[in-house]
Amino acid sequence: MQSPIVEFPLRTWQASIEPAMQKQAFETLEGGGVLYFPQLGFDLQDEEKRFLSPSWSDGKSKNIYLRGKERNLRGFAGSEDDALALAALIERYASNAGQLLNGLFPAYAGSMDMSNTSLRPVEAAGRTQSWRHDDSRLHTDAFPSKPTHGRRILRVFCNINPVGKPRQWRVGEPFADMARRFLPRLPPYRPWMARAMYALGITKSRRSEYDHIMLHLHDAQKADAFYQKNAPQVAMPFPPGSTWICFSDQVLHAVMGGQYLLEQTLHLPVAALIEPNHSPLGVLQEMLDRVLI
Ligand code: SIN
Ligand code: FE
Repeated sequence: MQSPIVEFPLRTWQASIEPAMQKQAFETLEGGGVLYFPQLGFDLQDEEKRFLSPSWSDGKSKNIYLRGKERNLRGFAGSEDDALALAALIERYASNAGQLLNGLFPAYAGSMDMSNTSLRPVEAAGRTQSWRHDDSRLHTDAFPSKPTHGRRILRVFCNINPVGKPRQWRVGEPFADMARRFLPRLPPYRPWMARAMYALGITKSRRSEYDHIMLHLHDAQKADAFYQKNAPQVAMPFPPGSTWICFSDQVLHAVMGGQYLLEQTLHLPVAALIEPNHSPLGVLQEMLDRVLI
């Protein structure tokens, strides 16, 4: 397997980026790779270092995050002043991530929709959870209550661990190879069920056939122990002081360990892509020879 991880030498979030690097950036991203910035870190001010502790978590959510457009701090337990200080840190990261994306992907300008920004203070290794929620199994992101109708999930991660601990990922085979393997095993889409789930409030909009397939691909990858162990994959320890970007609905990823990560989620319509046929929607429609949304 060709390495899906491509290094970029940027050292600042606000760099002005040459067209040649912008081209390499979009080809890597839309081609299902991970853009890796080994020298791009995020600095905490001295008085912010106290936030590097899992004790700020409310214990219910594994992440502390600023939610979508409303920007309320969720998953946090602490005083009002502490909440304001931590929200400022997370917001500063969101702003840096946005500037980096604008520099790298001018073609997406105006189409990227900022969603949640999270701090992940809990050690990722050894978290006990059901297989479906276990992110130490390779998977592509898809969420049961949130149909996307093909809209992309773009994520910017930065390891801010203060004691040298890497964020250990595994990155799997290309999306199309995974889809080819699992598509024949998926249950059929039932439009009446999608309508019922929406009417009952189980999903936030009607689950399209695309969403049905993406959700079942997520589950099929995680449920298959043989696949987890034997499928083509690379181990990637992202060190502290590094940043990486990928379409997490396309890149097969798993987190094996690490603590203190910042993460920005954005959404991007398929129409904004330069090569929409490389997207999960494009690949699945081509394989199944029909429209899925
Ligand atoms: C995931 O997106 O599955 C987890 C990534 C991480 O927390 O490192
Ligand atoms: Fe994930």
